[in-house]
Amino acid sequence: MLLVLLAVLGLTASSPCIAAPLGDNVSDLQPVFTGFTRNKLLLISFDGFRWDYDRDVETPYLDKMAQDGVKAAYVTPAFLTITSPSHFTMLTGRHIENHGVIHNIWFNTTTQEKKQYYMTQFVDSYWDNGSLPIWITAQRQGLKAGSLHFPGTAATYKGETVRVRQVEPRFYDHSNETDWRLNIDKVIGEWFHQQDLDFVSLYFGEPDLAGHSFGPDSPERREMVQQVDRTIGYIRDKIQDHGLTDRLNIIITADHGMSTVLRGGLVEEIILSKIPGFSFRDIQFQLLDYGPVGMLLPKEGMLEKVYQALKGAHPHLHVYKKEEVPARLHYSKHPRLLPIILIADPGYIVNGLLPLNSNKGEHGFDNEVMDMKAFFRAVGPDFQKNLMVDPFDMVDVYPLMCHLLGINPEINDGKLHNTKHMLVPKENTGGNNEIPKKNTQMEVVIGLSAAIGFLVLLFIITTSYNMWKRTKA
Ligand SMILES: *[C@@H]1O[C@H](CO)[C@@H](O)[C@H](O)[C@H]1NC(C)=O
Ligand SMILES: *[C@@H]1O[C@H](CO)[C@@H](O)[C@H](O)[C@H]1NC(C)=O
Ligand SMILES: *[C@@H]1O[C@H](CO)[C@@H](O)[C@H](O)[C@H]1NC(C)=O
Ligand SMILES: *[C@@H]1O[C@H](CO)[C@@H](O)[C@H](O)[C@H]1NC(C)=O
Ligand SMILES: [Zn+2]
Repeated sequence: MLLVLLAVLGLTASSPCIAAPLGDNVSDLQPVFTGFTRNKLLLISFDGFRWDYDRDVETPYLDKMAQDGVKAAYVTPAFLTITSPSHFTMLTGRHIENHGVIHNIWFNTTTQEKKQYYMTQFVDSYWDNGSLPIWITAQRQGLKAGSLHFPGTAATYKGETVRVRQVEPRFYDHSNETDWRLNIDKVIGEWFHQQDLDFVSLYFGEPDLAGHSFGPDSPERREMVQQVDRTIGYIRDKIQDHGLTDRLNIIITADHGMSTVLRGGLVEEIILSKIPGFSFRDIQFQLLDYGPVGMLLPKEGMLEKVYQALKGAHPHLHVYKKEEVPARLHYSKHPRLLPIILIADPGYIVNGLLPLNSNKGEHGFDNEVMDMKAFFRAVGPDFQKNLMVDPFDMVDVYPLMCHLLGINPEINDGKLHNTKHMLVPKENTGGNNEIPKKNTQMEVVIGLSAAIGFLVLLFIITTSYNMWKRTKA
């Protein structure tokens, strides 16, 4: 009886089946991925969306997405926890000291020139410092990539840019919900649907701005989180409208969180000019008044004097020589980092001459500070459903994205092992063509029905035989 059953199953399993055709001819370039059914991938970043921002606001669309997909407790961003450095870690899987985009501000210590966030986007040599963002890697391996407003989009890497791109104009309103929807229409309708792109990164400048201006605990920030939530609903509707739900994976995350700045005579602020023994005359170049982290290049022979004056001068200011920065922060090895690095505790910021910064919220703090952790959600055909996972590091998102896209990653600091459990387990097909899911399911159904049919038949035969034997006895 068992033999018959095995024979039936064997017959159905060995019946020939046709693998789904690939979207393009990547298989020619990547023999290792022959037969890999690649889904598209959309990476979305909402700047400054702290891990717990959904706790004090109704977020029906985020909740629905968590039911349909994966929610991580939080993700630990790279240090320094600010926009350009952190986003470039998302795109490369490298720690900041390894990719070289060490600050939002490009600077030249000789000429004293500084470029703010926006103008720094166009300094190719600043971004192209040895690490390739995932768009370029994907393009080199035959895929089509796009990027809208994502930090790093404007730069050229080894002579190549992300081919489909939109860089925001200089004075762009990053909070306008109507514009957000137009951008989404472009990415989903034009780029994914019409132009058939494989990977797109999409950036929104909120709720960072609301968090800075009004503080992370303000009603304005909560309102902005509702705008983000509506936007997530809009994105998923658009994807549905274009019939992409079963072919498009979405990862939604952020570059960092936000923490309340303490002021108003309650605390002693950190103001370098007030520190005894410290003098700006000893400084060749300074990067201060930019949140909780500052960097100094002392004049020749002044390093020790400056260091000794600052060290221990304020109970909430950590003063390091570059090489002393804790290794876990991965912010000491790059030649662009200045010899003295100042890091303030949560609640404090590093002021130079005067406390000019009036932000109610700031980021840039140690990435172990809970307020700096970012949110992470994912949904799509390759992700498990209704799954809550433990935290991981932002560097681990890059190998996950490369895996989803079926491309060979560049050298990176992440581990696929830390994020792969979010995915629907795939059988190892050992290089053979993967059987399309529908066919597999149908075969299982046919096989099982045949087997059950046989069992029923055998049951009837044996039972009637036994009965016949019994009646005979
Ligand atoms: C493979 O892709 C290249 C470049 O995109 C194209 O020129 C070529 O015709 C394609 N070959 C096949 C067999 O599809
Ligand atoms: C800074 O400016 C100096 C003088 O113009 C120049 O020699 C040097 O290459 C510049 N460094 C960077 C990083 O642009
Ligand atoms: C990265 O930048 C540093 C300093 O600006 C420079 O010395 C180094 O050569 C660059 N490395 C690459 C690979 O571009
Ligand atoms: C928002 O953007 C839309 C479309 O670009 C524009 O028409 C509208 O005036 C903007 N609203 C505000 C308040 O700036
Ligand atoms: Zn910010």
